[in-house]
This record gives sequence, C-alpha cells and structure tokens, in this order.
Amino acid sequence: MSNLIVLGAQWGDEGKGKIVDLFSERFHAVARYQGGHNAGHTVFIGETKFVLRLIPSGVLRPGVIAVIGNGVVVDPGALLEEIAGLEAHGIDVRAQLKVSNRAHVIFPFHRTIEKISEGREAEGRVAIGTTSRGIGPCYEDKIARRGIRIADLIDIDFEGLYRALAHDKKLVAEAFHIEEAGDFDQILADYKRFAAEIKPMVCDTSHLLNRMIRERKNILFEGAQGTMLDIDFGTYPFVTSSSAAAGGACTGTGVAPTKIDGIVGVSKAYITRVGSGPFPSEDLTEVGDRIRIAGNEFGAVTGRPRRCGWFDVPLLRYTAEVNGFDSLIITKLDVLDELETIPVCVAYKVDGKFVTQMPSSTRGMEAIEPVYENLPGWKTSTRGTTQLSALPTRAKDYLQFLEEKTGVEIGSVSNGPERNETMIVPGSKLAKFLP
Ligand code: GDP
Ligand code: IMO
Ligand code: MG
Repeated sequence: MSNLIVLGAQWGDEGKGKIVDLFSERFHAVARYQGGHNAGHTVFIGETKFVLRLIPSGVLRPGVIAVIGNGVVVDPGALLEEIAGLEAHGIDVRAQLKVSNRAHVIFPFHRTIEKISEGREAEGRVAIGTTSRGIGPCYEDKIARRGIRIADLIDIDFEGLYRALAHDKKLVAEAFHIEEAGDFDQILADYKRFAAEIKPMVCDTSHLLNRMIRERKNILFEGAQGTMLDIDFGTYPFVTSSSAAAGGACTGTGVAPTKIDGIVGVSKAYITRVGSGPFPSEDLTEVGDRIRIAGNEFGAVTGRPRRCGWFDVPLLRYTAEVNGFDSLIITKLDVLDELETIPVCVAYKVDGKFVTQMPSSTRGMEAIEPVYENLPGWKTSTRGTTQLSALPTRAKDYLQFLEEKTGVEIGSVSNGPERNETMIVPGSKLAKFLP
C-alpha cells in the first residue's frame, strides 16, 4: 500500500501533470486537493496533447478513480466542458470521476469580482496577475461561510441559498457601480441544469478515499499550483487562494496525515513564474528568452509568457522544509541542453549579508540579491536518454550539485514531455513509494 503526494516545489507548471499521469498507472485513485480550473496540467500521450484543469490527470488511465476533493473550487460549467473534451477522446470520465459533496462552487459573479479587484491598482490595490477564473473570490466566500457547496448545488434548497448569495453580490455590484453584474436568474437556470448533470458523480469523497485505503488500495494526491503560490507559505500576496503545500492534501481530501506514506516535490531544472510577484533568480536577459523558447514556457491556461530564471537552491530548501519532501523529481533537464554555462542561485544576500531564512514580506523578497554559481553546460541532447548513467557527465554533475545543495534526493529526472521520457533512480525513496 502506498499513498503518495506529488506537488509543485516552485511557482507551478513544474510538470506535475506529466508525472502524475505516468505514476497513476500504479495507483487506484488520483485525487486533486485544492485549486480549481486555474491549473493547467499538460499530458502528452503520443501525439495527443491533453490539458487537465479541474480533473485529476489520473483520469487518462482507464479504471483509475479520479477524485475532485473538498478543498477544490468547482466551476460546474468549466467541469462539464472539460468532461466533454475528454469524452471526445473516448475517455469514460463519468464512470471514473467522483466530485466531493463538500467542494465549493464558483459562480460567474466570482469572476466579475476578481476582475474588479485586479483592476483597482489606481486605488492602491496590488494586481496579482490572476488567471481570472473566479478562484480567489470563491475561496473568500468559503472562508466567510457564505459559499455554496456541491451538496447544496444538487439539493432542493439550492434556489434559496443561491438567492441569498446573489443578493449579497448585487449589493456589492451596486456599491461599486458595476454594470456587468450578470443576469442572476439566467445563472440560476444554468446552474440547475449543471447540477442535474453533475449529481451522479457527487459523493462523500473523503469516505470513498478512506474506504479505499482500508482496502489497501493506493492513492496518489495531485497538487495544483506550487508551494511558492501557497496561501500561507508562498510569496503573499502574489499567491493563489488555497493550500498548495503538502498539508493541503489532508485538509483538501479528508485523508489523515497518518495515512500518507510519501511526499514528492516536482521542480524544473530551472524555474518559472506566471503573473506578478518577487522572483529572485529571474533572468531578464536574452538568455531568459532562450529558455522560454526552448522550454515552450507559455501558460497552459492563459497562454501568458512565463517569466524564466535559474534553479533557486534557498527556495527549494524552503519548500522542501515546508512540505517534508522525501524526494525530488527534476523535470525539463533537456531544456538546458544547449547552454554554455548554467547559473544556479546558491544563496541569498540582503544588504550585503547572507540570509538563511526565506523573507516573508514582499519588500524582503525584493531585497534579495541572488548569489550564483556557474556550472558548465553539457551541450549535448539529453532527449531520448533512458538511463541516468547514460546522461552526459556534466548533466550528471549538475543533478548531483542540486541534490547536494538542496539536501533532498533526486528520485526521478524528466527529459521530455512524453511518458517514456522519464527516468526513475533505482533504489531511491521515490522508487520505493511506487507500488
Ligand atoms: P503542470 O502545471 O505542473 O502540470 O505543468 P504544465 O503542464 O503547466 O507545464 C509543463 C510543460 O512542460 C508542459 O508543456 C509539459 O508538456 C512540458 N514538460 C513536462 N516535462 C517536460 C520535460 O521533461 N521536458 C520538456 N521539454 N517538456 C516537459
Ligand atoms: P498549475 O497547477 C502557475 C498563479 C497566477 C497568479 C496567481 C493567482 O498549472 O501549476 P489565481 O487565478 O490562482 O487566483 O492566480 O497564481 N497561478 C499559477 N501559476 N501554474 C498554475 O497552476 C497556477 N495557478 C495559478 O498566474 O500569479
Ligand atoms: Mg500548469
């Protein structure tokens, strides 16, 4: 039996979708525990490209149960669209997918509120550069205890609850003189239709997962976003509104920490970020542009160019501590193939002095002067290499350097977007977690 959490060790887009898809063959269920359709998890199966948003990547494996946990926020329209897209590829989503009755529902007015909030820079509010999916405002309603959960959406009481929430939003719209508040009756009619379609997939997913665990089945937890976007541990306020770090897997699914066997962080061999916020090792030169092109670093959800930079050791040590990583998976090693030298940020300085803890304020983060060590590039293609021992010596040295500096074993290396372009280190902790 093995229950394993796989999550982002950086600012998201580390290649979690590819890794979860690869591993899910060995698990009975794959569960998403936070976020919503702000996520974009890319999986290539041969020539076919899938971008999973709300639905766990495990759904691409026939027979694997795909769980949307209570910690996720669900836009039912987006969910049904994603289901239809997967069904067009012959995937039996409705048989595999289970949606938590405790997950919260995103409504169109959540998106409107987000747009307003993001557009108020003139009033001194910071724009986060969000994905405009209504994620933050939905979580706001959840924490304020006025949100609507999936269980309410499919209940006969839905209309009453909806009208109360809609009334609230009308008041907000009036207060801010917003004209595009939406047609609240049309939304009600749409959501009643969505509810009827989703209802057969709704259940108590916490009970389902715990029953599977009692039956000694294997559960894979799929993180969305990344630790540096976590609401508590990320670069607040330039974060998402959920617990992307490992603890979120328990609160977001109702599976106890005592049932978790391993925690694995996914990290690129370099680093990227989409949206605003501090980024100590960002490369704003043409080398950063080359990485963007070589790594095809454009957002899977919004198409925005991703900001690119160098592997950041202090950041990784921080996310390893917060999550308790047993093992690291390094992705996109091949993207560095052409480089003459590869800088790695090995330490942070503030006001000329070394700092060993991650600053907690934006000002503190922005004051960081990254200290780099330049490693020689290998200038050879690593694509198609299936054995770690067959990698160019300098690529092996680079990986060993990352392992030594971060203090976490590298259990797997990915050198291409496809399933078979992944190497797992024999005898690693990661290999032992894979059933
Ligand atoms: P996620 O959100 O963490 O699942 O990552 P995304 O799907 O948003 O972004 C990762 C991108 O890198 C996708 O386009 C993947 O197909 C691609 N990818 C994943 N692993 C590798 C790899 O090892 N090498 C290359 N070249 N591309 C990869
Ligand atoms: P995956 O799962 C990268 C970023 C947004 C923005 C901030 C808040 O594919 O790794 P939100 O819409 O969540 O309120 O936006 O978080 N962001 C992501 N960046 N990958 C993601 O998901 C992201 N999901 C949100 O760009 O800066
Ligand atoms: Mg992504």
